[in-house]
Amino acid sequence: MTTIAVFVGSLRKDSVNKALARNIERLSPDGLEFRYADLDLPLYNQDLDADLPAKVVELKKLVEESDGVLFVTPEYNRSFSGVIKNAIDWASRPWGKNSFAGKPAGLVGASIGALGATQAQAQLRNVLLFLDMKVLGQPEVYFNASAGLGEDGQANESSEAFLKGYAQAFAEHVRTA
Ligand code: FNR
Repeated sequence: MTTIAVFVGSLRKDSVNKALARNIERLSPDGLEFRYADLDLPLYNQDLDADLPAKVVELKKLVEESDGVLFVTPEYNRSFSGVIKNAIDWASRPWGKNSFAGKPAGLVGASIGALGATQAQAQLRNVLLFLDMKVLGQPEVYFNASAGLGEDGQANESSEAFLKGYAQAFAEHVRTA
């Protein structure tokens, strides 16, 4: 079994990014297990590096025990969400104990407009490279949720083929990186 820690950067119930993650999970090849990280965390505080909150210990364990990490981010004000950044900051610490180092990573994102979280992903990619992750370069998924998802959150036919292609490339990347 290949295990994937999934970071969805929106906490809202009807998140289109959560729906995107669920669709990629559904379209993934056999043998991949998605484990959704709880990113509803306190704000990062370096004073706590020596005694991390229990939820952060849990998050670091999830990442370290997973074969790869999938980041699914909304775009907030032309960047990725604070939810993602806060979780990354926690799991990258304390100094010398970066849980992400060397892990294969994928990143995708959805917005309700046509641009599909392009700028959020460009900025997030830079952070993941700094964290020494092995980031999948292609294909890119700039997902317009208004056009690509039905009301039930299910990808429509053309999106489904596209997301299936991404899921296969990501699985291959995690297994070979
Ligand atoms: C947005 N949204 C947005 N969309 C976009 O394409 N570019 C942007 O810069 C922003 N900025 C932005 C800021 C804030 C604070 C919010 C709440 C929203 C719209 C965003 O794409 C939309 O709300 C998505 O539905 C958010 O993703 P989830 O929560 O549905 O996963």
